Amino acid sequence: QRHKLLVTRTLPLSSQERIERGFEGIDIVQWKEDRAIPRSELLSLAKGADGILCLLTDKIDAEVLDAAGPQLKVVSTMSVGYDHVNVPELEKRNVVLGITPGVLTEATADTTVLLVLAAARRLREGVDAVLQGKWGTWSPTWLLGSQLTDKTVGIVGLGRIGVAVAKRLQAFGVQKFLYQGTRPKPEAEKEIPGAHVEFSDLDRLLKESDVICVCCALNDKTQNMFNYETFSKMKSSVVFVNTARGGIVEQPGLIRALKEGRLGSVGLDVTVPEPLPTDSELLKFPNCIVLPHIGSGTLETRTAMSEIAIENVLSGIKGEKIPHPHNA
Ligand code: GLV
Ligand code: GLV
Repeated sequence: QRHKLLVTRTLPLSSQERIERGFEGIDIVQWKEDRAIPRSELLSLAKGADGILCLLTDKIDAEVLDAAGPQLKVVSTMSVGYDHVNVPELEKRNVVLGITPGVLTEATADTTVLLVLAAARRLREGVDAVLQGKWGTWSPTWLLGSQLTDKTVGIVGLGRIGVAVAKRLQAFGVQKFLYQGTRPKPEAEKEIPGAHVEFSDLDRLLKESDVICVCCALNDKTQNMFNYETFSKMKSSVVFVNTARGGIVEQPGLIRALKEGRLGSVGLDVTVPEPLPTDSELLKFPNCIVLPHIGSGTLETRTAMSEIAIENVLSGIKGEKIPHPHNA
């Protein structure tokens, strides 16, 4: 009996070639335009699928699962985050969920550090000044940023990515890290030897950190964790960077804090919504730099992610244990 696989987007080249070559016994349906599959297409193409290979731009909820039907065995998302997937609804239907952990840790940590430096050193203002002819002269006092050496860095979520960020920042002279999460993580602390790494409550992290990096998953506990109140507790010179999910930040609160000059500088790779409309107020602040959710965006990493997503979905369709379940 043949199986059906729905792939919701064109994949990086080598994975796309695998899809085009096909898999024995599997009929493949793919949305090939380079934009998110429209909801109506998702609902109709999912019909009869045994496996769905999706992206973080696709909301996978009860409606999609019901549209697919009871034969659906696996949802494989080409992402490490899975806040776009309704896990309890999958569980109710015995559908397994595959993710792509590990392979995007380095690329995402690189992007986090990129934004820390860009924000701390006022990259946007510097680039804009050059482009707009506002580069008058070398000046002892112009465009001064802040230096990372000996600063305290707060890491929200000391998972794989948080650890990789801390290791990178050590090379910039950071020796003290405070971290927040559901529990102390002595194993993770040991992966950052030579630094002072301390579990901290959120209040202390907010008050004492010179730089704050958000590296946690979006869930009920972290949704809107950063809001006007939390921003108000930060140092007025803080460098705040979010490369996790836009929903962890209550954006109107961030905009208000920026307006009132309560934040030193901000770097975001994730927003609400995505894409962020060009008339968003968030884009008006010279000390806020926004990237278009490209944390894992290297050819190497995206290829590794799509390969894992394929392995997960193929194993799931065959009814085998999938290599990278969300709850490993
Ligand atoms: C990207 O944001 C991911 O979750 O993989
Ligand atoms: C994601 O890979 C994390 O655990 O930080």
